[in-house]
Amino acid sequence: MSDTGTLPIGVFDSGVGGLTVVRALMERLPLESITYFGDTARVPYGVKSVATIEHFTGQITDHLLNQGVKMLIIACNTMAAVASQVVKDKAGSIPVLDVIDAGARTAVLESRSRAIGVIGTPTTVNSNAYARRMHALDGGVRVYSQACPLFVPLVEEGWLEHEVTRLTAQEYLKPVLAENVDTLVLGCTHYPLIKPLVQDVVGPEVRLVDSAITVAEQAARKLAELGIANPGEHLPEYRYTVTDIPLRFQTIGERFLGRSLGRVEKVDW
Ligand code: DGL
Repeated sequence: MSDTGTLPIGVFDSGVGGLTVVRALMERLPLESITYFGDTARVPYGVKSVATIEHFTGQITDHLLNQGVKMLIIACNTMAAVASQVVKDKAGSIPVLDVIDAGARTAVLESRSRAIGVIGTPTTVNSNAYARRMHALDGGVRVYSQACPLFVPLVEEGWLEHEVTRLTAQEYLKPVLAENVDTLVLGCTHYPLIKPLVQDVVGPEVRLVDSAITVAEQAARKLAELGIANPGEHLPEYRYTVTDIPLRFQTIGERFLGRSLGRVEKVDW
């Protein structure tokens, strides 16, 4: 075992939403240290142009690589959709995982009818990244995507069970359900928080794919395969860095993480 094993996994997102991935990683890989970066000053990315997202993603990748990480995980679906190549080019030999690849693989493996729905931000849906990934894995699947821009603010508002969120979900999901999908990918960091509500709206026959959980599974496999899992001689360390600490940051962050956030550092760029 080289020293690489004790380095943290770098996880990043446009804001606090990627903490759903950190939460899944903490549960699946309790010995691993994690360094999280959230671009809270510039969120949301889901409505920004590809060129801007690529530029921001490059800056974050450089920052995490300078800190020293053994693996990078793109927790943000929007960044994964349009800027994963930027990350891979900079990372060199450091493995890069992302929520889109993980979610697409699980959906293709688990769908019986081969009709799959994907929901995400407008940029993620417009990029067609999930459909491209799924078609690369299985040319026969049919993919129906739907942008759900109102979900991010509703989740940040904490309206996880609210009637307004339910009505919004019914409206957004109507066209996807009309295609008789048997699998629905939650293609945005924020959506795992409204999983019970979405499950209720789509009914028990539709399987929901939570990209946070599937990317944590992938990370566990990759660490084992490369022999760089943490030997666990010390307690794991969690570090959170953001570009702004807005009002209600702690409350929202802890809702995503499902536990206390601890110390949060702010970088000045
Ligand atoms: N993190 C983004 C995603 O998963 C959602 C928030 C944003 O629009 O920046 O697509």
